[in-house]
Amino acid sequence: MKIEVKALSHTYDVQVLDNINLVLDEYKAVAIIGVSGSGKSTLLRILSGLEQPTRGEVFVNGRSVKEPGYKKTVGFVFQNHNLFPHLSLLENITLILEKTRGMSKEEAHAIAMENLRLMSLEDQVNKVPKNISGGQAQRASIARALSVNPETIFLDEPTSSLDPILTHEVLTAVENLRNIGKGFIFVTHVISFVRDFADYVIFMHEGKIIEQGPPTFLDNPQEEATKAFMQKVR
Ligand SMILES: Nc1ncnc2c1ncn2[C@@H]1O[C@H](COP(=O)(O)OP(=O)(O)O)[C@@H](O)[C@H]1O
Ligand SMILES: [Mg+2]
Repeated sequence: MKIEVKALSHTYDVQVLDNINLVLDEYKAVAIIGVSGSGKSTLLRILSGLEQPTRGEVFVNGRSVKEPGYKKTVGFVFQNHNLFPHLSLLENITLILEKTRGMSKEEAHAIAMENLRLMSLEDQVNKVPKNISGGQAQRASIARALSVNPETIFLDEPTSSLDPILTHEVLTAVENLRNIGKGFIFVTHVISFVRDFADYVIFMHEGKIIEQGPPTFLDNPQEEATKAFMQKVR
């Protein structure tokens, strides 16, 4: 995956991203970490095309996030599953494939089943979200994100509402996707997952990237803010 961020700033009422510059090539899984309010979700939303930056340029795999077609190349998994509550897991996926990708019922069904199976949900496909566990619902969200065959999958704290057992279950499922040929950009507080899955880590503080590199830098952070953060999450 190739990421290029040039002089990116973003402002709501106050500035939340402050002149971010980043050039990454050949990494498959990039983790964004930092304390709450440091701008991680904003950066993730901009990288995924969900939100347009106030200032600056952002390219992923050579494509500007401002291009109208860019959003078709991404899948997004949110903090809470946000599946349609009245639809089965299967319908949650086939609906999107039929409506946004113009697929036939048969094709949509085949792709939905394939991705639900990949997330070990083949025996749950006819259930509605309220009748499955939070971990199963997050795995269904991941199956849905995969179903549109994106180049890049974005995950924003996908396990923040889950207990430790379900967190482990969901993160193990993500780790099993390592070699499916897609890029991953994710926010998490689970540092063991960052160490296991990420091949590059960005540490954010007050809207800036203040430390970055392969996950080994977390063993020996240089910046005071990174040291303080690592003390807290350990
Ligand atoms: N839609 C929004 N409107 C106004 N302020 C926002 C919005 N989204 C985020 N913010 C503010 O921007 C800052 C960074 O938020 P966010 O990117 O969500 O950080 P993080 O994900 O690291 O917790 C916070 O101060 C937050 O309150
Ligand atoms: Mg956030």
